[in-house]
Amino acid sequence: MRPEAAELPPEPEAAASPLVSIRDLRTYYSIRGSFADRLVGREAGVVRAVDGVSLDIRRGEVLGLVGESGSGKTTLGRTLLGLARATSGNVDFEGQEITRLPEREFRAVRRRMQVVFQDPHASLNPAMTIGQSVGHPFQIHGLERNRDRLRLRVSEMLERVGLAPAEAYLDKYPSDLSGGQKQRAVIARALILNPVMLVADEPVSMLDMSVRAKILELLLALKHDFDLTYLYITHDLATARFFCDRIAIMYLGRIVEIGPAAAIYADPKHPYTRALLRAIPEPDPERAVPRDLPRGEVPDAARPPLGCHFHPRCPNAFEPCGWESRDLRELLEARWARDAGREGVEEEEALFGDLSALDVPSPEVRFPPPRGRRPEEIVAALERIRSQDPGEPFWKGVERLEAQDAHVRLDFHPPNDPRLERTGEVDVACHLYGSAPR
Ligand SMILES: Nc1ncnc2c1ncn2[C@@H]1O[C@H](COP(=O)(O)OP(=O)(O)OP(=O)(O)O)[C@@H](O)[C@H]1O
Ligand code: SF4
Ligand SMILES: [Mg+2]
Repeated sequence: MRPEAAELPPEPEAAASPLVSIRDLRTYYSIRGSFADRLVGREAGVVRAVDGVSLDIRRGEVLGLVGESGSGKTTLGRTLLGLARATSGNVDFEGQEITRLPEREFRAVRRRMQVVFQDPHASLNPAMTIGQSVGHPFQIHGLERNRDRLRLRVSEMLERVGLAPAEAYLDKYPSDLSGGQKQRAVIARALILNPVMLVADEPVSMLDMSVRAKILELLLALKHDFDLTYLYITHDLATARFFCDRIAIMYLGRIVEIGPAAAIYADPKHPYTRALLRAIPEPDPERAVPRDLPRGEVPDAARPPLGCHFHPRCPNAFEPCGWESRDLRELLEARWARDAGREGVEEEEALFGDLSALDVPSPEVRFPPPRGRRPEEIVAALERIRSQDPGEPFWKGVERLEAQDAHVRLDFHPPNDPRLERTGEVDVACHLYGSAPR
């Protein structure tokens, strides 16, 4: 705090200002290609794990960050904690820009923002007693050297997380504890320095079903008692429903919908959110592994689809959603795989020839027919494919299809990135809503 600010009464907007403010955050990982590429030091590209995220985490709330595996949830959490380096963008924490703080200065931030990871076993040093582990943050930060006082603080914290009486746990090793007890110890260690915020990354997903609810109840009670703010990372929408105040839905590095949990469950807007919610297995909502998601797997975050990252899987996709060359390849290959062995399929494959030119993402496709074939034949084949399934969203994306100068020319409508826009109580990034092109 600036010295002159100390004498002034707190500004009303200061109380309402978010604890964390994230703006256009990107965290990319460099990936290297083949062994031969590495020999010459050539990078194959980047994984856009977090790809332009803006959101606020409000003081005292539980913000749930939900999405399928690989959507970038952990990377976003790790970037906030300074454990992954932001490629660009900003994170303000308690009014301080922390994205580019040197490691030494980041240590003070880490006292205020703690983390609980998924695997309690990996989080605890097997060679340290529970008492030593839980008291370790005091040593790291040089805050308490008196052994008795330290033991007392640790004991209080252990009892607060349900490891009571503390004497029964202080001198035990992690291997003596159950998964749930270990996670309680990890939580005790995270909270012992009185942070304001906790990033909880799938904190119960590795625990037995019987203890998951108890640990979540403990986290809620601790949040209340210690006046905490949570970023709760999960792929489990069933649990997030009762645990979170607001939910952010993440897909391939971007937030596609964010708003009050009640609004998201009552009236999901984004087609991806709708699909995720439909996929919650009932009546046993233990793990909402999406089973019902339309149209294939999550694409590779190193080569995300153009436009809306969700468009290849979206049942509602239409003209502006980002159609491109790779969608044509996927359409054809899915068709050939589905109809393998049927009459005419091999012939159709031979007509199109090598499709690798379609791997370079572009909304303008130009490809020469294989030797001995004419572009008109390919255009006619595509028209036939269209007429067999005219409801396929892909065809909405096609603006122009013709033979031109010995090539097949296929133009898609120009791709457009949907931005988060307010719709009712939530913000949603989808061309079906807001002022974006329809
Ligand atoms: N250290 C790394 N180096 C390269 N790529 C990485 C690294 N960590 C994560 N990734 C990639 O970044 C993307 C996002 O991964 P991340 O672990 O953040 O997703 P997640 O949503 O937490 O997934 P999960 O639900 O499986 O935990 C994925 O494509 C992943 O393969
Ligand atoms: S912008 Fe909306 S309609 Fe278009 S692909 Fe994305 S989610 Fe579907
Ligand atoms: Mg993760």
